[in-house]
This record gives sequence, structure tokens and C-alpha cells, in this order.
Amino acid sequence: MKSVIYYYTGTGNSLKTAMTIAGELGSAVLYSVRNKPEKVSAKDADVIGFVCPVYEWDIPGAFKSFIKDLDMNPNAYIFMVATYIAVHGRCFETVEEILSGKGTRLSYGRALRCVASQCIAYPPFPPEKLMLPHMERKTKEICEEIAAKKNRPYPRMSSLTRKRYPKAMGPYMAVEQEYDKGFYTDDRCIGCSTCEKVCPNRNITMTEKRPVWNHRCHGCNACVAYCPTKAIQFKTPKAYRELGTIISKILRLPEKRKRYHHPLIKASDLMKDRIDIK
Ligand SMILES: Cc1cc2nc3c(=O)[nH]c(=O)nc-3n(C[C@H](O)[C@H](O)[C@H](O)COP(=O)(O)O)c2cc1C
Repeated sequence: MKSVIYYYTGTGNSLKTAMTIAGELGSAVLYSVRNKPEKVSAKDADVIGFVCPVYEWDIPGAFKSFIKDLDMNPNAYIFMVATYIAVHGRCFETVEEILSGKGTRLSYGRALRCVASQCIAYPPFPPEKLMLPHMERKTKEICEEIAAKKNRPYPRMSSLTRKRYPKAMGPYMAVEQEYDKGFYTDDRCIGCSTCEKVCPNRNITMTEKRPVWNHRCHGCNACVAYCPTKAIQFKTPKAYRELGTIISKILRLPEKRKRYHHPLIKASDLMKDRIDIK
């Protein structure tokens, strides 16, 4: 049986989930979205997985394009796990639409609550010590169901979310292209190029030993979270600043914007384009 899992990750929650599922399947190949889809086809796979975060009530744009361009076996067991914190929105519908254009469909869909990682807008929450055991427990459940090839209808977008989608997400989508314009390095930058190598969008190039962001950013925060010297700083766009203020106020989050990445996922894991789990 050939199992292939495709993933997008910025702060490691989705990669940790994908790796745990792969382990439960016995053996699987994991491919990052950093690959060219035509080079990592799933034409002969029996089990195909998609694991990614929810961004703005949908999946990251680069992952959408990746799945659109991916060749896959329409008869495979296809699962999707979306990591998120509060609203998964239309992320499963997006993938289902792409799959239906390829003559296939999702066999299984599940959303998994993780630590919220949008550190340019608000501090990570809920606390890791609460969330990591929750993630582990739920991932175990998900693993057992996927290993048994259980069919599970994916979570739908609620009618309230559907109604509010354009108005609620509009301000963030409008500034998506500007997201990385606020990124810069301070004098702690050692020119190590970790940021370039962990970026899932291949959005960073090094010029004179300093990162340059090329405006294909989805705001995943991998560069910020994995910078070994915390040299990457950011000016937060207004829409996200306002969102951060609201969330911090409601949840009484501390003022300090801590950086988060999953503690078991290292920068070296994000740098790999392919991971073989045996
Ligand atoms: C740019 C951005 C947008 C996000 N949008 C949403 C969202 O719409 N709904 C939600 O519940 N969580 C949202 N989150 C939280 C992430 O989905 C969550 O932290 C996810 O587990 C991160 O996955 P990763 O660690 O694999 O990058 C967002 C995070 C980021 C960085």
C-alpha cells in the first residue's frame, strides 16, 4: 500500500500532525508544498492525505494551487486534516471542489484545534501546556480512524460563517500581498538563511546575507518563529493590529507577543522537502 501525505506548515502544528498520521499508517512519504506538484504526483497512491492550517477561514493559497496541479489516483482513500483554532470556515469545501474537478472526493475530513500561531497579530493562545496534550489526544483518534480507512464527512462551513465570510475576511485578504512588507531584520541577524529555507512559499531570498521578502507571503510566521536569533521583526498591518487588539482584550492575553512553534518540530524539519516515515 502506498501512502502519500502533502502538507503546508508555518509553525509546525500541521507537520507534527502529518508525521504522526504517517507513523500510524506504518509507512508513508510526506511532501512539503515547497515541491513542484508535477514532481511528486499521487497517481499510484492508495492513500492520499492533505494536512494544512486554516488561514482566513480557508486553506493557504499556495496549498490550493498545489492541490489543483497535483495528479492523483481518483480511487484512493483521500483524507484531509486542517489545523486551526476557532473557525475552519470553507477549507474543506475548497479542497472538495478541487477534487471534484478531478473526478474524486474526500473520504475523510477533520479539523484539529492547535495553538494559534499568528504571532504578528496576537500572542499564541491557548497556552501550550493545555493545547499540546489536547492535540496529542485528538491526533491519536484521527490516526486510528485514518489507519482504519474510516469514512467521515468533513465539517461544513456554518451558515453564519458563510454569510459573514466576505465582510469578515475582506480586510485581511486586501492586505495579504502587503503582509511581508512589514518584515525586517535587526542587528541580531547572522545571515544564516534559516528563514529562506523554512519558508513554505519560497518567498525569501538572501541578498548580502540578509533576507529579502518577495511578496508571495501568506503570513505563516515560519521565518519569525524559527529565526534562531529572533532577529526578524515586523510591523503589523492595520487590519491585523485591530484583530490582535480585539482577541487580546477578549481573551486577556499578555501584551508581549511571544513567538510560537510546535516544540517537537525543528527548523531542520521544515527545511526538508520530503520526509520518509518507515
Ligand atoms: C495567517 C494566519 C491566518 C489564520 N487564520 C485562521 C482562521 O481563519 N481560523 C482559525 O481558526 N485559525 C486561524 N489561524 C491559526 C492557524 O490555523 C493555526 O495556528 C494552525 O495550527 C497553524 O498551523 P501550522 O503550525 O502548521 O502553521 C491562522 C494563522 C495564521 C498564521
